[in-house]
Amino acid sequence: MHTILLTGGAGFIGSHLTRLFVKKYPQYKIINLDKLTYAGNLENLRDIENEPNYHFVKGDITDLDLLRTLFAEHKFTAVLHCAAESHVDRSITDPLAFITTNVLGNRILAAGCQRSMGRQYGE
Ligand SMILES: NC(=O)c1ccc[n+]([C@@H]2O[C@H](COP(=O)([O-])OP(=O)(O)OC[C@H]3O[C@@H](n4cnc5c(N)ncnc54)[C@H](O)[C@@H]3O)[C@@H](O)[C@H]2O)c1
Repeated sequence: MHTILLTGGAGFIGSHLTRLFVKKYPQYKIINLDKLTYAGNLENLRDIENEPNYHFVKGDITDLDLLRTLFAEHKFTAVLHCAAESHVDRSITDPLAFITTNVLGNRILAAGCQRSMGRQYGE
């Protein structure tokens, strides 16, 4: 059985991807990790929030301890990464948020994947 970590699932693209996977692959378990910034809205997922193969975790992809816990607990077989600071205009007023999520967050998530899935996929 696949257990998939989907980041940023409350956002524009992530919510469509989450819905697609939850509905199309009921045998997969989908864990949606989202910080719920100004861009994230759980209303986007209201219709699937009670599906048995869907679980929401409010959290930040830069939170190393949280990622370690999630990877250890769920033994993800795939990661779909949509969490991002994506509103370009805001990168001018708050560049640090972009660097933190889009650079540091990507790296922390990639490290989690390498540690957890490296051997399984013959890194
Ligand atoms: N929207 C588009 O047309 C488009 C096109 C091409 C590529 N993309 C890319 O797809 C990705 C997603 O885009 P989108 O339009 O869905 O963005 P979005 O801004 O609508 O959603 C981003 C989601 O990430 C969450 N998030 C932000 N920072 C987080 C963090 N530190 N930890 C956990 N969650 C966090 C937000 O709460 C939100 O739910 C981005 O990388 C974007 O560049 C988007």
